[in-house]
Amino acid sequence: MSKVVVFDHPLIQHKLSIMRDKKTGTKAFREILSEISMLMVYEVTRDLETEEIEVETPITTCKCRVLSGKKLGIIPILRAGLGMVDGVINLVPAARVGHIGLYRDPKTLEPVEYYCKLPEDSDKRELLVLDPMLATGGSASAAINFIKQRGCHHIRLVNLIAAPEGIARIQKEHPDVDIYVAALDDHLNEHGYIVPGLGDAGDRIFGTK
Ligand code: PRP
Ligand code: URA
Repeated sequence: MSKVVVFDHPLIQHKLSIMRDKKTGTKAFREILSEISMLMVYEVTRDLETEEIEVETPITTCKCRVLSGKKLGIIPILRAGLGMVDGVINLVPAARVGHIGLYRDPKTLEPVEYYCKLPEDSDKRELLVLDPMLATGGSASAAINFIKQRGCHHIRLVNLIAAPEGIARIQKEHPDVDIYVAALDDHLNEHGYIVPGLGDAGDRIFGTK
């Protein structure tokens, strides 16, 4: 069963409250999403492997630790996942970026794929799938399927807000994928929106409504 980590850090919770507020405009929404993404990736990568190296400082030499093991890849789910990329890249600038284009059919709520381009060596990387919203889990589950079909098996899912329904779906369909969220909300409404949520993340990031 995959692990679910909910970040209860006061800075993350404070910033998320501003994002939930319907009065928060596009510019602030986008900036705060980027900040939270950076704070989240700091925790998501806490268990990355390190190795000891020797470094010569201006004073002497000393043993230090640097990252080793698998390199990172980040895969935003278009569109809303794009809003998390800058924050993550700020902390892990060497990460390669893949893109998966999916939208949720408003009637069936089923994901429809329109784009997929992953880094060539994705199968050798630790992959972080980014999407602010995990609602029914259909989009994230489909994205993870595409990634697995390309031979990748080290995948973590990073969401801002998740509904219990989405968590249950990922745990059932992808028990090997750990899920990291800033908040676990109450339920989905009849339109498949997370309650209380923050509305349509893509529209709020890009100002399309
Ligand atoms: C939103 C969101 C997720 C998906 C979550 O995207 O960014 O990708 O819905 O819903 P689900 O868990 O029920 O699949 P949307 O389809 O609105 O597309 P957009 O990012 O282009 O706005
Ligand atoms: N997608 C969103 O952007 N918001 C929701 O609440 C659910 C799906």
